[in-house]
Amino acid sequence: MDASQGRVVLITGASSGIGRACAELLSARGHIVYGTSRRPGAVEARGWRLVEMDVTRDDSVQRAVDEVLTREGRIDVVVNNAGYALAGALEDISVEEASGLLDTNLLGVLRVCKAVLPSMRERRAGLLIHISSLGGMVGLPFQSFYSASKFALEGLTESLRQEVAPFGIQATLVQPGDVRTRLTENRVKAQRSGPGSAYQAPFETALRTIENDERNGVPAEDVARTVLELMEGGPVRVRYAVGKLAQRAAVLAKWVLPSRTFEQIVMSLYGLSRG
Ligand SMILES: NC(=O)c1ccc[n+]([C@@H]2O[C@H](COP(=O)([O-])OP(=O)(O)OC[C@H]3O[C@@H](n4cnc5c(N)ncnc54)[C@H](OP(=O)(O)O)[C@@H]3O)[C@@H](O)[C@H]2O)c1
Repeated sequence: MDASQGRVVLITGASSGIGRACAELLSARGHIVYGTSRRPGAVEARGWRLVEMDVTRDDSVQRAVDEVLTREGRIDVVVNNAGYALAGALEDISVEEASGLLDTNLLGVLRVCKAVLPSMRERRAGLLIHISSLGGMVGLPFQSFYSASKFALEGLTESLRQEVAPFGIQATLVQPGDVRTRLTENRVKAQRSGPGSAYQAPFETALRTIENDERNGVPAEDVARTVLELMEGGPVRVRYAVGKLAQRAAVLAKWVLPSRTFEQIVMSLYGLSRG
């Protein structure tokens, strides 16, 4: 299909932030956009539709995908974007908090892929865009499970690309650095990270840096523009980084610098030093 023709796009987590910016830009560009939210009634969508989807529930994901397929007959592009952040020292994170995060950020992608791939395989076409993070390339202190979910998404997508390529389906990763969205307000803090935690003081110092960086991050529209460009371009690369130059350069530095030197730089950025 010609990239300029309206493509049917499903974007998970389109009630705010990056998902919403993608929905607005792609629909303005003439694409047929379906965004998802767990509470679609609470969100205003102009020029695109919102459907209910909780990516942690198989039935909810299947119902939303079926609704789009019934209305449009196809889904050309999926932006797997729904996600949230969990902060706290690894020692303070409960198994329930870790599983909840992985259920949304990682297994949510599995559920959506399983629901859309049969129709994409049948049509021998489709593009899966996975919103990862630069935190999926560099492990950040007090964000262990957030980083783990994005590292896992990176591996999952590398594998998936090779499996679906023979069916004419493409998959790619978009890795934003810090972006100004509601992720900061919606971040879940490990329940045990408060008073009584051995990590309370360094955690709070690091969290101030994390939140400050996000509030000064790039606008969500920058990520949406990357999504639009790769959607309308030729064959997609494995990954696309978006964000401030210093943050994109940090990923390069990880491969170039000795590992302990790089780690020392990251630690000092978050106010940590070796004991
Ligand atoms: N902001 C950043 O600095 C940054 C950097 C790198 C990567 N990212 C990634 O970008 C993606 C979008 O985040 P954002 O920054 O735009 O945050 P956001 O403004 O908080 O938006 C998160 C979206 O995810 C949806 N969501 C959360 N849990 C869900 C679930 N169980 N089922 C369905 N939808 C769910 C929310 O929808 P409802 O609550 O309406 O259901 C919301 O639309 C995430 O994957 C995040 O990890 C963000």
